[in-house]
Amino acid sequence: MSRRTAIILALVATLAASIAAVTRFATLATNATATEARIAPGKLEAAQRAAGVYAVPALDPALVERGRTVYAESCARCHGAQLEGQNGWAYMNTFGRYMAPAHSDIGHTWQHADATLLNNVMFGIEPEHTEMQGFRGILSSLDQAAALAYIKSRWSEPVRSYQHSISLENHYTNETGH
Ligand code: HEC
Repeated sequence: MSRRTAIILALVATLAASIAAVTRFATLATNATATEARIAPGKLEAAQRAAGVYAVPALDPALVERGRTVYAESCARCHGAQLEGQNGWAYMNTFGRYMAPAHSDIGHTWQHADATLLNNVMFGIEPEHTEMQGFRGILSSLDQAAALAYIKSRWSEPVRSYQHSISLENHYTNETGH
C-alpha cells in the first residue's frame, strides 16, 4: 500500500472512531437525563405512595447505637464528629485528591442508594484519588452497616425518605463513586 493510501486509511479510521465516540457520549447523556427524570423525587414518592409500597422503615436503635461507636472510631476523623465533612470539602480538593464530604443533609451521601453506599464503604472510592479506602477486612459487615445506619439516623425525614425511595428503585446500584 502506498504511503498516501496508508495516510488516508488512518484518517478515515480516526474519523470513524471520533463519530463512534460522539454517538456514544450522546447516548450516555440521554440515558443519564432519562435516569434523572425517572427518579424525580416528588414523582417517585407520589407513585410509590399511590401504589402503597412506600414506607420508610424505622432504623434499628441497637444498630444505630453500634454505628455511633463505629463512626466515632473509624469515620469521624475524616468525615467529622458531627458528620460535617473536612473543612472546605465542598469547594476544593487537595492536590487533586477529593476531600471527605459531609454525611449530613448538607452532603450528598443521601443521593446514593443503599447498595452504592455499602459498596463505597466495603471497597472504598477510587483509592488512588481519595483517602476513602475500603473497610472490608477492617470492619465486620455488621459494623459497616451500623455506620451507615448511624449516618441515616442523622438525616432529616424528607432526606431519609428520598434516599429510601432511591434505594427501592435501585437505579444507582451499579454506580460506584460519588
Ligand atoms: C482517611 C479518611 C476517611 C475515612 C477514615 C473515611 N472516609 Fe469516607 N470518604 C473519604 C473521602 C476523601 C471521600 C470522598 C471520595 C470521593 O469524593 O471520591 C469519602 C467518601 C465516602 C462516601 C461517599 C459519599 C458520597 O456522597 O459520595 C461514603 C458513603 C463514605 N465515605 C463512608 C465512610 C464511612 C462509613 C467511614 C467509616 C467506616 C468512612 N467513610 C471513613 C475519606 C474517608
